[in-house]
Formats: sequence, structure tokens, C-alpha cells
Amino acid sequence: MRTKIVKIDEFHMDQEAIREAGEILRSGGLVAFPTETVYGLGANGLNEEAAAKIYAAKGRPSDNPLILHITCMEELRPLAAEISPRAEALAEAFWPGPMTMIFKKTDLVPHTTTGGLDTVAVRMPSHPVARALIRAAGVPIAAPSANTSGRPSPTKAAHVIEDMDGRIDMIVDGGEVGIGLESTIIDVSEGTPSVLRPGYITMEKLRKVIGTVTVDQASLGQMAPGVRPKAPGMKYRHYAPRAEMTLFRGSEKASVRAIRKALAEAAAEGKKAGVICTEESFDCYEAPVKKCVGSRKDPEMIAHNLYDVLRAFDGEGVDCIFSESFDDNPLSGAIMNRLVKAAGHRIVECQE
Ligand code: TXA
Ligand code: MG
Repeated sequence: MRTKIVKIDEFHMDQEAIREAGEILRSGGLVAFPTETVYGLGANGLNEEAAAKIYAAKGRPSDNPLILHITCMEELRPLAAEISPRAEALAEAFWPGPMTMIFKKTDLVPHTTTGGLDTVAVRMPSHPVARALIRAAGVPIAAPSANTSGRPSPTKAAHVIEDMDGRIDMIVDGGEVGIGLESTIIDVSEGTPSVLRPGYITMEKLRKVIGTVTVDQASLGQMAPGVRPKAPGMKYRHYAPRAEMTLFRGSEKASVRAIRKALAEAAAEGKKAGVICTEESFDCYEAPVKKCVGSRKDPEMIAHNLYDVLRAFDGEGVDCIFSESFDDNPLSGAIMNRLVKAAGHRIVECQE
């Protein structure tokens, strides 16, 4: 399949290109597009065949459900069997934006889209290109992150092209996304709302709007045997660069020291090692490859750069990657959740 790549500037949208992408989506094709979180791989979410194509293009297990993307509350009502007052309050506070809510689904939503579940994930993105595309398609758009299953999510069109060129109908290049981490997922389908995947909308912000919010323990990566995460996608290895990655936790000083030691050991074994560090620690390392995710003073920048840095290691031919941790900021829940998974839970606790 030849993949058509079109550039769309969010400030001067090419209406003809939007119309064409909408038509492809409506008629069952696949279009990748920018959202404010990461690039999504879109298909008509009410069409089983179209949704099935997403799983095939990503190599995604069919039990891992998709998020439906909408543009306004009127589009939510036909999809969700019940919308609680707390869900209304969350929508009011954070939509359009980087939050996904889980509802009991209606019969309109096919089980192919929900990975066989009786609940459905819905998000109302704020990115103007995403919104224009959904409107042009005239249907809810099922869209997972537009990466090959297991790889870091795409934050720019070049990442989508790496993974999806030749596998989908169209890639809409809207430049770099703003946030760089996927949406916060909160289950409002029953009882106390529960966060299934941490994201840009923090627990603190959610609690300010609806009071008590719990966290699905499995989403923290502390999975006891037999405990299944409520978001099926959270059980898979994810966001992972090709080289084996180890995450060093502890104070900045202790982890820098431990990483320096690991680098020396890797060099002695003839291994090419890479480091994920910050502006503050960059000069502390002698390493074949060093990638800076930004300054510790700017967690939003760290979130924004993380996936690009993880992907960039794949082109460097490194054997192993050592990463610092980012535990001390409002976005650390979201950032560390992704890093722990990228490291396949290989974590070194660093002592002072
Ligand atoms: O920011 C985002 O959410 C991006 C952009 C494109 O919108 N999308 C995204 O989709 O991250 P994806 O497919 O990569 O991740 C969706 C997650 C998976 O972990 C999946 O298991 C979970 O949402 N999920 C979807 N429907 C669910 C449901 N009904 N119940 C529980 N978890 C669900
Ligand atoms: Mg994903």
C-alpha cells in the first residue's frame, strides 16, 4: 500500500486535505493524525472491519481496546450507556484535552473496538487538526497511538512514518505534538473513579474536581501475581527502545554515581552504552551516547522529549541504556510509569 503523506498547518488548515482524510476514515481506511498528546492511528470506530485494520497495522493484540475520539458532548451520548455527574464534571473541567474516560458502552460500539469489553474509552482531543478530521469523518474515530505495538508512541510525523509507512492510507503531518505523553485514563463506569493510566492530568487536578479518586494498583507497575490491570494495554511491554534499558532510582547524586559505575562496567565488557540524563547531569558522564531529556526544572519538557529520546537510541546501535529517574515533580507519575515499562521493570535502587 502507498501511504499518502500530507502536511497540515493547524493555523491555516488545508480544507481539501481535511476533507480527503475524513472521506478515507468514513469509508473504512486508516489515517494517522496529530493530537495534543501523541499521534493517533485513526479508523471509523463504529466499523468493525476498519477497527480490525488498526490491530493489524500496529501488530496489536486484539484484547487491547481502542479509544474513541469525539469533538463534543452530543457525540458522547450515543456511545456511553451512562454518564455520571462526576463524569460530567470531569468533562466540563478537562475536555477538550488530554483525558480519556471509561464508560459502560452502548450497543452502537462494536466489541472489536473495545477488545471484547462492555466498556468503552472516550476522549475529546483539543488539537485543531484532530478535531477537524473527526468532524470531517462524521463518526467517532478509534485511535490508539500510531506506533508499532511495543515501541515508544510517536510525537512527530517522522516517528509515524518509521512505523507505519506502507501500512496505512494516509499520514497527516501536523508537526510536533505539544504534551508528548498519552492521555490520563480514568474509569468512571462504576463506583469511585479510578485512574488506569497516569498522564498529563494529575491525580491532584482530578481530585480538585471530583474528590476521591483511586489508582489502579496494577497501573503503577507493582503487579502482584494474578492481579490484572484494568486497562488491558498496561500489561504489555511498552514504550521500549530496542536496546536493553535499566532505570536508576534514588537521589540525583546517588543515581549519577551508580550510572557512572555501570558505564565503566559496560565499557570493560566492550558494550556500547547510552545514557538518558538532564541538562544538570549531562557533564557528569563519559558515555558513547548521551541524550538529554531537558532540565529537571521543567518536567513538561522532559515529558515532551521522552519518546523522541527513546526512539533516537534505536539509530545509535547501543547495546544498553542507563536512565536517570524523574521522581520529584508533578508529572513524575506519568513519566515514571512510561520509563518503568520502557525498562521492562529493570530497576536499580541507588543508595546514598
Ligand atoms: O493520548 C492518548 O490517549 C492517545 C491519543 C492518540 O489519543 N491514544 C492512546 O491509545 O494512547 P492507546 O491505544 O495507545 O492506549 C489506550 C489505552 C490502552 O492501555 C488500553 O488498554 C486502554 O487505553 N483502554 C482502552 N479502552 C479501555 C477500556 N474499555 N477499559 C480499560 N482500558 C481501556
Ligand atoms: Mg499506545
